Amino acid sequence: MAKKRFHIAVIPGDGTGPEVIAEGIKVIRAVSQKCDFEINLEYYDLGGEQYKKTGETLSDSVLESLKGKDAIYLGAIGHPDVPPGILEKGILLRLRFELDQYINLRPIKLYPGVDTPLKDKGPEDIDFIVIRENTEGLYAGSGGFFKKGTPDEVAIQESINTRKGVERCIRYAFEICKRRNKARKLTLCGKTNVLTFAFDLWERTFKDVSKEYPEIETDYAHVDAICMWMVKNPEWFDVIVTDNMFGDIITDLGAMIQGGMGIAAGANINPDGVSMFEPIGGSAPKYTGKNMINPIAAILAGQLMLESLGEGEAGDLIEKGVKYVLKEKLKGVAAGKMGYTTSEVGDMIADYISSVNP
Ligand code: IPM
Ligand code: MN
Repeated sequence: MAKKRFHIAVIPGDGTGPEVIAEGIKVIRAVSQKCDFEINLEYYDLGGEQYKKTGETLSDSVLESLKGKDAIYLGAIGHPDVPPGILEKGILLRLRFELDQYINLRPIKLYPGVDTPLKDKGPEDIDFIVIRENTEGLYAGSGGFFKKGTPDEVAIQESINTRKGVERCIRYAFEICKRRNKARKLTLCGKTNVLTFAFDLWERTFKDVSKEYPEIETDYAHVDAICMWMVKNPEWFDVIVTDNMFGDIITDLGAMIQGGMGIAAGANINPDGVSMFEPIGGSAPKYTGKNMINPIAAILAGQLMLESLGEGEAGDLIEKGVKYVLKEKLKGVAAGKMGYTTSEVGDMIADYISSVNP
């Protein structure tokens, strides 16, 4: 039988993106040999430098080409010389929207050997997943200015919540909660006491869909309160589902309690299409080219990618390698504090994978 072969689009992007993606690819190659599949990579030069040269963010032809891939592996998008919004909207959000990656999945997991800023909390307390709606809400770009630049100026930015968009996100969260099979508890995070239209829709939809999942316990928390509980009692959470903006905010908090941006990975998922996997930390211009940044977030994004491609065993092996290096090798997880360079961390994980029996 011919080996399985995955066609992966690689967008190293800006800042430290290329450095961490190189380590991710190193690890994916190592695991592909162990688990007997092939990867075929096509690199795409997108990001701030490219925009400065060409004035283009993401062309229709590049987008079309990406649609033909099995997955997209993304480093980082963001450049200090480009005004905010252009690259984010032109590349990252455009990809999420055009490829209809309506789920943003972010595991919040503290690995043994990693320090959390939460006192008296350990790996057994911090292990949950946030499912963030990824194509609607305040990110939809609905709104505009009225009388811009005058004393009467008005700026409106609306949150768009469709029944279809909310329902597919909530249903996905129930499915993940069921498949994960841990505490079997799904928490809706909203703001029903103030956003009485948007989160009324979310709450009603949540109740409706929950009827299909009698085995899953349901819970609700306001977004402000969930920030408090994530710090005080992170062990309460199994899976959290929320809208785009709240999900953006609480997953940065989540990244901090799991040890920092150096190890936080995320997946932008279209269950029926092309998904995209990224470290969530951004381009970190300050560390660019210094071989100092932690590649583990990108490596774990690779794990998420292989799992979504059906290579669960390969994903497990990557996680094993990451766990080993975090526990036995690294002094810290922050850039410049690891006791090793970016490429040494990638080497250690790849070598571990090559040497271990799956
Ligand atoms: C993230 C990022 C993006 C977002 C930015 C860069 C547009 O913060 O992936 O969380 O807000 O979604
Ligand atoms: Mn964010």
